[in-house]
Amino acid sequence: MAEKMSLTERADALERKMSEELDVLISKSALFNMADGNLGAAIMRPHPGAKHPQYQLMTDDPRLPKMPAKPTLLDYFECRAAGINHMLQSATHALKAGMPEKTILACLLHDMANAIFIKSDHGYWGAQLIEPYVDEEVSWAVRAHQALRFFPDESVGYAYPEMYIRHFGKDYEPDDYIKEAYKRARNHKWYMTGRMITVHDIYSFDPNAKVSWEPFADIVGRNFRQPKEGLGFDDSPVAHMWRTIRRPTKYL
Ligand SMILES: [Fe+2]
Ligand SMILES: [Fe+2]
Repeated sequence: MAEKMSLTERADALERKMSEELDVLISKSALFNMADGNLGAAIMRPHPGAKHPQYQLMTDDPRLPKMPAKPTLLDYFECRAAGINHMLQSATHALKAGMPEKTILACLLHDMANAIFIKSDHGYWGAQLIEPYVDEEVSWAVRAHQALRFFPDESVGYAYPEMYIRHFGKDYEPDDYIKEAYKRARNHKWYMTGRMITVHDIYSFDPNAKVSWEPFADIVGRNFRQPKEGLGFDDSPVAHMWRTIRRPTKYL
């Protein structure tokens, strides 16, 4: 019977089982459903056979690691990131090359958005997430890497990544807004900082590389203005984005 079920049916069955077992109902965002090919947000209905009263989730998602009341950047990495090895490898590469602290921080945070939030336009989302807490040059560079990665710069030995040919095909052309962003970045005073992210970006991901947060703790301490209220509770223009990452399935 199970073999005859489609992937979607199996996912639905799993979800039904989960909704019977959890105390709370976990609805999905419109974005989540769109990614699955559906339009509109799915609202979970209480299960008639549930052993507990079931309300819509308005607190922590019980399936995710619990976060402290005043979360730090590291807490988000540890509790919400789908892997930070790639960023640690990039930052380690920049550290070994003797880059300035701002560049090392930019490398450490450059792909944060795709690790904890969303892949599409990740450079823009990532820059926005950190903007209130870092030097303008750092968030500028994170934003710029979105476009710069598609354009070679032989002066610093950066070629178009082989991996992109495998991922996107040899005829892939970046969108027009990316081309425009590249032109603007090329003439910007911080061009090289953004470019250095692409130079130290490790495209050939090595799962066995020994890297850790430890060498960057002081650099983050000096260059990332961690709000005392906790990321998400400092009333900054992006605080809600951090709160959503902390509780991604909160009903409202
Ligand atoms: Fe990236
Ligand atoms: Fe990257």
